[in-house]
Order: sequence, then structure tokens, then C-alpha cells
Amino acid sequence: VSRRLTAVDIARRKGGEKVVSLTAYHAHTAGIVDPYVDFILVGDSLGNVMHGLETTVPVTLDMMILQGLAVMRGSKRALVVVDMPFGSYEESPQQAFHNAARILKETGAGAVKLEGGTHMAETVAFMTKRGVPVMGHVGLTPQSVNTMGGFRVQGRSEEGQKALEDDAMAISDAGAFAIVMEGIVEPVARRITEKVPAVTIGIGASPACDGQVLVLEDMLGLNEWVPKFVQKFGSLRAHIEEAVTAYAEAVREERFPGPEHVYQETKKEA
Ligand code: KIV
Ligand code: NA
Repeated sequence: VSRRLTAVDIARRKGGEKVVSLTAYHAHTAGIVDPYVDFILVGDSLGNVMHGLETTVPVTLDMMILQGLAVMRGSKRALVVVDMPFGSYEESPQQAFHNAARILKETGAGAVKLEGGTHMAETVAFMTKRGVPVMGHVGLTPQSVNTMGGFRVQGRSEEGQKALEDDAMAISDAGAFAIVMEGIVEPVARRITEKVPAVTIGIGASPACDGQVLVLEDMLGLNEWVPKFVQKFGSLRAHIEEAVTAYAEAVREERFPGPEHVYQETKKEA
């Protein structure tokens, strides 16, 4: 019997074959990426991508559970990791466990991800000791946009580098099986990956990490603007525009629907 990859399978990949991940928010995109990735991230970036929000701050637990369920239905092989949204875990270890348990029970996902470094270590330890596989997320943490004063690359100052290394080590020591490192300068990403036992997953954090993740819509070329760290591996926006233009013309010129798309009173087809 085939089974899904687990957090334990991902943890074993430290320093080995690169871990590959993409985000997905829907059953259909989850099904498309499932055979090719090690884990699917149901990111709270769904707030930006699906809902047109400027930040991830307004994303709710209900939104994450709904999309987590859709991704579980659409996939069968990859580990599914669901982001804990802003406000659902920061208050206390108890609050974090309570909401993580809701995610795991209501979606069937295999792990949760939360943002933060040393200040979240106690919470991560509380959760992992009680059966919740946790993925950390350090560096540029978009849920803290209001205290960071914008989205900035992390680790350019000496204090910043030290803080990042402490953050990653604290989350790894607390039992996280992996840590997303977002928007971190290369030397720091490399040092952390060498030092820290948890698998490091980079996004804008150089090839030195143990694996990589991208937002699916960004790498497919669905979004016009993408950050510097994204490569557009596809050009879906152009494909969609082409198809929509052709459809609109066909309707206006009365070429669609054609005879083959029309139901008649007597059924001719088998
Ligand atoms: O929400 C998200 O898509 C993420 C990735 C960018 C790591 O957290
Ligand atoms: Na996220």
C-alpha cells in the first residue's frame, strides 16, 4: 500500500536529496503537484493569492481548514502542511496546541507551520511533545509585517545574523522537523543549514538550504509581479489570456457553441 510521506520522512532528508515543495490551496492544483513534491504547503499566502489581501494578517483558521481539506482531498502522496494563521497560536502554548489539533483533526493534514524564532520555542516544544509535527518559519515572517515595518531581507546586519541563527536553533531544539527560511542572505542560510539539525526549506534563502519551496501561482507565471527570488517556470497568465480571448471571440462571432456542443431532442450519441 502506498502511504503519504510524513514529517518523519522529511526529517530524515537532512543533508541528503533536496526536499521539494510547492504551495497549493485547491484540490485540483494539489492533485497536479502531488506526484512531484515531497510536501504541499497550504500557505496563508492564500490570503494574497486567492483573496487579494495585501498581507496575511487577516487570514482566519476557518480559511486554512477549508483549503487544507480541499488539498487533502486532491492529493494522496505528499505530506500536507497547513499554515497556522496570525492570531491562532501566539498567545500561549495551549492556544497553539488547541488550534493545531483542530487543523490536524478537521483536515487530516500531517503537520502545521507557524512563524517565529526563540520566542516561539516553548510553544513548539509543547506542541511536538503532544503529537503535533511542527514546521518553523524564520527570517522574513510576513505575519509580523506590522512590527517589521514592511517586507525586508533578513540577516544583513551582524546582530540580525546572530538573531537568525539563534531563532533557527531554538526552533530546531524545540523539536521542529523542518524550518522554512524566508528572505535570508546566503551566508546565514548556509551556516544555519550546516549547524541546525532540522531540515531547512528556503524561499529567497539561496540554494544552500536542504530544500526549496515556492508559491505555485508565482512559479507558474500566473501573477504578473513576482519577487526577485522567484523563477517563473511557466507562463500560465499568457495561456489563460489566450484561451479567454479565443472563447470571447468565438461567442461574439457565434462560432461557439458549435453543433457538437448542442443537445438535440433525440439522442444520437451512444
Ligand atoms: O504562506 C506561504 O505560502 C508560505 C511560504 C511562502 C513559505 O509560508
Ligand atoms: Na505562510
